[in-house]
Amino acid sequence: MVENKVIVVTGAGGGMGEAIVKTLLTNGAVVVGLDIADDKMKLIDNERFSYETINLLHEQDVNEVFANVYEKHGQIDGLVNAAGIAQNSTSIEDVTLDQWNKINGINSTAVFLTCREATRYMKKKKSGSIVNIVSVAAVRPRPGLQAYVASKGAAEMFTKALALEVAPFGIRSNVLHPGPAETAMLGQFSKIGEDVDATKEEVFRQSVPLGSLIEPQDIAEGVLYLVSDNSKIVTGASLNIDGGRGI
Ligand SMILES: NC(=O)c1ccc[n+]([C@@H]2O[C@H](COP(=O)([O-])OP(=O)(O)OC[C@H]3O[C@@H](n4cnc5c(N)ncnc54)[C@H](O)[C@@H]3O)[C@@H](O)[C@H]2O)c1
Repeated sequence: MVENKVIVVTGAGGGMGEAIVKTLLTNGAVVVGLDIADDKMKLIDNERFSYETINLLHEQDVNEVFANVYEKHGQIDGLVNAAGIAQNSTSIEDVTLDQWNKINGINSTAVFLTCREATRYMKKKKSGSIVNIVSVAAVRPRPGLQAYVASKGAAEMFTKALALEVAPFGIRSNVLHPGPAETAMLGQFSKIGEDVDATKEEVFRQSVPLGSLIEPQDIAEGVLYLVSDNSKIVTGASLNIDGGRGI
């Protein structure tokens, strides 16, 4: 499905990112991982995998990394944006401008920066597929997560606007909405001082009609579909992988 496609995955050092990278490698892709943390990426031993430790908010570094990938491989076929940060549930009057800017920066601005560079090179081949991991919270918000929800809403509509703009160049751009997933991030949505395990069980798991948290592999399977030619007529779509949480 993705054999020999060159696919850049941001957040490759995270819970979903790791599963996405391994699934793409299993299916024959050439994968470049990008993350600010390299502890998981450096353990992936595959000749078709390389990685860069990078802060995705540093514009010049992002530009250089995509230029280098293109120079080395001669093509960029896919971009999967899985980098992101959570927000501790916080009353609006306690959210600082710095927190707002940081959350919106990584969850939204970094998506713009990477998509801008990826499309630059995809246009040369007149094909490509972008998958932006957003969140079902963008359409089913929770109290206290206003900055996170806003950042994800921006990423969703950006992805759709981009889909329309780059369709004439054979490039697709889709949203994947995970529901509450079993990764390190989930515990970071609790209020500070709250029992994280209890919140996972009582708030998050119980919010999923199918009754279990989403596994990183569930997300990876969706990414595989959206980045592959099996979804060649799908663009501007939002795919919920959320156990029904978005209903
Ligand atoms: N876990 C959930 O319940 C859940 C639910 C819905 C959506 N999501 C979204 O799914 C995506 C993946 O989340 P995850 O659960 O794997 O989280 P995670 O925390 O395990 O992974 C996120 C990764 O992003 C990286 N990152 C953060 N800031 C960065 C920066 N400035 N530059 C480079 N890398 C940076 C982190 O180092 C981390 O490896 C995120 O966008 C998240 O918002 C997660």
